[in-house]
Amino acid sequence: MKPRPIIFDTDPGIDDAAAIVIAVRNKNLDVKLLSTVGANVEVEKTTMNALRLTELLEADIPVAKGCGEPLLKKLEPCPEIHGVTGMDGYDFPPVTRKPLDRHSVEVMREMIMESEEPITLVVIGTHTNIAILFRMYPEVKERIAEIVTMGGGLSGGNTNSTAEFNIYNDPHAAAAVFGSGVPITMLGLNVTNKAVIYREDAEKIDASGKEGHMLYSLFEHYRGGTLDAGLKIHDAVAVAYMLHPEMFTTEMLSVEIATEGVAAGTTVSDFRAVQRGEKTPNVNVCVDVDAEKFRQWFVGEFCGQTER
Ligand code: BDR
Ligand code: CA
Repeated sequence: MKPRPIIFDTDPGIDDAAAIVIAVRNKNLDVKLLSTVGANVEVEKTTMNALRLTELLEADIPVAKGCGEPLLKKLEPCPEIHGVTGMDGYDFPPVTRKPLDRHSVEVMREMIMESEEPITLVVIGTHTNIAILFRMYPEVKERIAEIVTMGGGLSGGNTNSTAEFNIYNDPHAAAAVFGSGVPITMLGLNVTNKAVIYREDAEKIDASGKEGHMLYSLFEHYRGGTLDAGLKIHDAVAVAYMLHPEMFTTEMLSVEIATEGVAAGTTVSDFRAVQRGEKTPNVNVCVDVDAEKFRQWFVGEFCGQTER
């Protein structure tokens, strides 16, 4: 199988780190670029973390710095989840690499327009960069294979009662991207909250080698659940979906994003309006995941139990 070309738009971020490590190591994916955004922590830090990952992976993948602030609101980062660096818990050696000297929106435009094969955008932070890309260079839209994004959910949030972090932090950008007409698959909290790993899994990953040990060290500091009750590796679920769609149940649903008011950042799927013919399904939504298969896959990516 020819590797699928992808661009990550990311805010590493401990679960972002897991997603990136797996994707870079997997021969069925071809990671072209890490485009960074400020969200979990400030963009200077997420960019440094992206460089740290490419260096540890010894991967020749460019890193381009993107937007530091959402389109209209003020960023509300979450160092309490990922640590003040965004990837607390592992002593990374000093980084010698540098980001590209152009904004990630410009780099994405060029890569998308010059690619022979349509590229998949894997958006695992806020949607700010992608909204700006589409606004500045709408011609890219028809050259994108699809957007696979971790964000939102069908009910309940993790930033407040209704909103998930990535959408909450830039609802206006998310609304622009979800309404762009580019095919989009949403992996929201309704599936990522179920796709967890436990201590025994993390210990196997720790023993698997340098990259596994790095991730285990980060997991010990990550506050997206716990290794005893189940650690939520939200962003890695987007990679699992690309490699193993058979682990997921999907449905075309209508998804809209509340941008203002008390529910700002909430993804709203009004199935009754669809039944009445008032709304058209616009998003491929993952409605369920085989959690046990996900867990086995995740460990197998490090311990060689599944084909990479
Ligand atoms: C999302 O928010 C971030 O903290 C994680 O990296 C993930 O992308 C989960 O809601
Ligand atoms: Ca993220």
